[in-house]
Amino acid sequence: MQESKPTDSVKVGIDKINFYTPNHYLDLIDLAEARGVDSNKYLVGIGQSKMSVAALDQDIVAMAANAAEAMLTDGERQEIGLLVVATESGIDQSKAAALFVQDLLKLTGNLRAIEIKEACYGATAGIQLACDYVRSHPGRKALVIASDIARYGLDTPGEVTQGAGSVAMLVTRDPAILVIEPESIYESRSTGDFWRPNYSTVAFARGKFSEEVYVGMFEELWEKAQELGLANPENLQALLFHIPFSKMGRKGLRTLGNGKISEADYARLTERFEHSIVYGKEVGNIYTGSIYLALLSLLENDNSLKPGDRIGLFSYGSGSVAELYFGTLQPGYRQRLDADGHRTLLDNRERLSMSEYEAMFSAELATDGSQQDLGRSDPAAGAPHYLASVKDHERQYR
Ligand code: CAA
Repeated sequence: MQESKPTDSVKVGIDKINFYTPNHYLDLIDLAEARGVDSNKYLVGIGQSKMSVAALDQDIVAMAANAAEAMLTDGERQEIGLLVVATESGIDQSKAAALFVQDLLKLTGNLRAIEIKEACYGATAGIQLACDYVRSHPGRKALVIASDIARYGLDTPGEVTQGAGSVAMLVTRDPAILVIEPESIYESRSTGDFWRPNYSTVAFARGKFSEEVYVGMFEELWEKAQELGLANPENLQALLFHIPFSKMGRKGLRTLGNGKISEADYARLTERFEHSIVYGKEVGNIYTGSIYLALLSLLENDNSLKPGDRIGLFSYGSGSVAELYFGTLQPGYRQRLDADGHRTLLDNRERLSMSEYEAMFSAELATDGSQQDLGRSDPAAGAPHYLASVKDHERQYR
């Protein structure tokens, strides 16, 4: 349950972080009206306001490349020795999405390119793998990209918790943003709270059960962290959660209320939690990227954090794997952020009508081997990469 690694002096962690989300969204007030639901159920009860909707040309490969493209220098492209794409919504049963992304980002061939799957936990597995990799490979860097399109289906209970987007993170030695501690606490337990059979384009979930497992695993890992002296609340300036929808993270945080930690600590963690959900409330569920979107949201929307502050991250993937780990903000972290750029990305999205959303959601790629050319859904904004066509069952990107 606990990770104990040799503590050497090498500091590793997140050096750069960026995100991309498609340029269409559905306003959840429109969804509530169409489904005959009180809009406060979505806005307050679920805690979400909008959700990004991906057109066919922005699949998880294109989104992943778009998230990473703007943040990488030519030098870094040469130094990347590990590329991980973590996703629940992969596009191929065999070939790793990372290989398409490697090509689009013009990375060298001298790297390991792999895809990781474990529902919403995959990117955390990727981050931990990347930290180990850069610890043991001086001079090399690792790129971890979380990329997902969350789909539960039209007019289902999960519909309001959909979304689409990617978060790209460069993991290096002496990182500028967050040094990740080698010790972490984790647990795996086979549960039937969320799954997606190979033949299904939408997930199946036991939503309430999923909330129970998530909260239960958080409580267990938190207790363990207390026993090991890893999570003294006084020394924790923020606590991030996997956020499929903001209410779920809030339920995790609330377990620390009722006197479990001091009122002052609870108030501080709650205030910072509010900053961590700003982006996610407008993007929706991006599965494995959700906790890293929360990290970016916290850093770009909170002005009170400072270098040296310690942050906890509770990662959860249905099925289920959970991990609680910690990191410390670094002196240069603010210079690495792009709050204006990310706000523009969110604000410039086009609002879809219900019928446009339903048509976009229902569109499918040809599965009979015929050629299908796709239009570009995001020609002007920051999406240089897109799926251009399918032909002979193969995806062609530009
Ligand atoms: N005003 C304010 N609040 C209201 C309201 C109103 N008018 N009407 C209802 N609410 C509140 C309810 O009281 C409830 O609050 P609590 O959760 O605090 O009790 C909340 O809104 C939701 O209402 P319901 O319980 O009636 O909602 P529901 O039955 O429609 O289900 C859901 C909600 C379970 C989240 C459902 O949307 C769902 O199944 N979503 C998909 C599953 C999911 O996202 N699971 C997340 C973890 S899994 C994951 O992240 C995937 C992964 O690992 C890849």
